[in-house]
Amino acid sequence: MEGIDKNKQDQEKLAAAKAAVQLVNDNDVVGLGTGSTATFAIKELAKRIQAGLKIKAAASSVKTEELALSLGIPILKLETLGSIDISIDGADEFTESLNLIKGGGGALFREKIIASLSKNSIIITDSSKKVDRLGAFTVPVEVVPLALQYVLNQLAALNGKAVLRKKDEMTFISDNGNYIVDVDFGLLDKPEKLALALNQIDGLLAHGLFIGLTSSVIMAEGDKILV
Ligand code: 5RP
Repeated sequence: MEGIDKNKQDQEKLAAAKAAVQLVNDNDVVGLGTGSTATFAIKELAKRIQAGLKIKAAASSVKTEELALSLGIPILKLETLGSIDISIDGADEFTESLNLIKGGGGALFREKIIASLSKNSIIITDSSKKVDRLGAFTVPVEVVPLALQYVLNQLAALNGKAVLRKKDEMTFISDNGNYIVDVDFGLLDKPEKLALALNQIDGLLAHGLFIGLTSSVIMAEGDKILV
């Protein structure tokens, strides 16, 4: 991470998480993101529940569900929910127009379903995540295994340099039993156009370009909170 040390970054993540969790109201259904920043928010939410807040939540990953349950946060099945009042999640990159790259943790599909269901979709970040143009962070895509070679062909046709994600030298498998491919398209002039092209590829379950899905970004920079 350039220009920001881990301690300061964690303080910023915590500050953004605290600000977002204050927006949760009694009886809300809350979408819980995945990743280190979302983890700060989940822990803050648990503190508010201990203090009497009554909410139910939906989790964007198995890891998040396990953490939430261990902290006493009641979890609803995502497939039963027609809408979510507020969701709180992190991002790998965001721009001023509130477009994002997500999926660094491989949870992009469920995160996108939660963001799409949310009336108020809040992204929390430290100051390292703001960019002028998306694309320095590669675009994660979730791929149904049997379609891998077909999807790789289609990504190459879009001039994407694709790398199958590994973890501990093994192929990374998502919570949905799929592969994650990280694709370098360079810096993106028109992320909306790329998102539409990726939407057309059969076997590509979801991509990490979140276009028009975010209500607000709460970013902490030093001791300032910027919304
Ligand atoms: C997981 C995500 C995360 O929100 C994203 O990777 C940011 O993670 P972190 O808060 O650890 O920097 O999209 O799929």
